[in-house]
Amino acid sequence: MDTDAHTATSANADAEPTAMGRRSLLGGAAALGLGNTAFGTTAHAAGAPPRSHTRAGRFQGKSVLITGATSGIGRAVAKAFALEGAHVGFCGRRAELGRQVEREIRDAGGEATYIEADVRVDAQVRSFVDRVASRYGGIDVAFNNAGIGSSKLPHEMSAEEWDDVQATNARGVFLAIKYEIPHMLKAQHGVIICTSSSAAEQARPNSTAYTASKRAVQGMVKSAALAYGPKGIRLNALLPGTTDTPFVRPPGIPDADWAKYKQAWGPLNVDGLERMAEAEEIARAVLGLASDDFPYMTGASITVDGGSTAGRKMIRPSGT
Ligand SMILES: NC(=O)c1ccc[n+]([C@@H]2O[C@H](COP(=O)([O-])OP(=O)(O)OC[C@H]3O[C@@H](n4cnc5c(N)ncnc54)[C@H](OP(=O)(O)O)[C@@H]3O)[C@@H](O)[C@H]2O)c1
Repeated sequence: MDTDAHTATSANADAEPTAMGRRSLLGGAAALGLGNTAFGTTAHAAGAPPRSHTRAGRFQGKSVLITGATSGIGRAVAKAFALEGAHVGFCGRRAELGRQVEREIRDAGGEATYIEADVRVDAQVRSFVDRVASRYGGIDVAFNNAGIGSSKLPHEMSAEEWDDVQATNARGVFLAIKYEIPHMLKAQHGVIICTSSSAAEQARPNSTAYTASKRAVQGMVKSAALAYGPKGIRLNALLPGTTDTPFVRPPGIPDADWAKYKQAWGPLNVDGLERMAEAEEIARAVLGLASDDFPYMTGASITVDGGSTAGRKMIRPSGT
């Protein structure tokens, strides 16, 4: 679980997708605030030449690989890329959910392929990456996003639990980079975005394993950005703040109760925007970083957290 949410929720990577996650792709376009622009139908003033740069088709025909898109942020990112014309190859372990996401994207006219793969397993990551590259003709963009939470104190955590967090969140990102890079070297271009967390910057007492793994992602990205920048490949780390996904939403909680909880949680936990992020908002940041809009950005850690790491809530004891 992301540490920002640790105060009152429990991680549950196996939960069903949220009501928000179940929105149709076209509904998702509205949630993304893309409106008709996403489909290239932005109205222009009469007589004015069409704008040369719209969001329509920013990723038309591009090959996009995503780890961990069976739910949450990865799922929202897969849909957002597909809406903008990308061919999306994604993985996750839960095949039923993977096939559902693939179906939703295709039903809305997009192109996506789900491939079952566990990012902890070297051979599965290699096969997943190679299959996406062969199906879609290389890899233009990779979003290395798969991750799990952890909220135990070090003395209560087994070595196996520690290893699992690092194997998923850090080694899994390493393996993805390892197998994506040869495809990008061949093409002499590519963009890689890796999901870290605001928890990499702002630890909590019970976030030792999680914070360590997300710091590792930042370190990997910085070093690899130096290595592959001269070859035309950019890498950046994305640090989301607490985001409404099954990662933080307790399983089985009714929508109305969850909405009430979120409303109370925001002002207490997020300086600045005083609310949780929606997965679609994190997706917008991912697509922006993957686009041609930031050609000079590499090796960076981009925080998208509503302001929570910019400040620290000062809650006074009652009566003062
Ligand atoms: N939500 C937040 O508050 C928040 C904040 C900051 C950072 N993050 C990070 O954002 C990323 C996505 O999290 P989320 O919020 O979208 O949570 P989520 O809904 O639980 O999604 C996690 C995704 O990672 C996949 N995954 C986990 N372990 C995997 C493995 N061994 N192999 C392949 N896929 C695996 C899951 O798929 P399967 O279970 O099907 O394998 C799922 O698709 C994570 O890296 C998380 O640390 C989340």
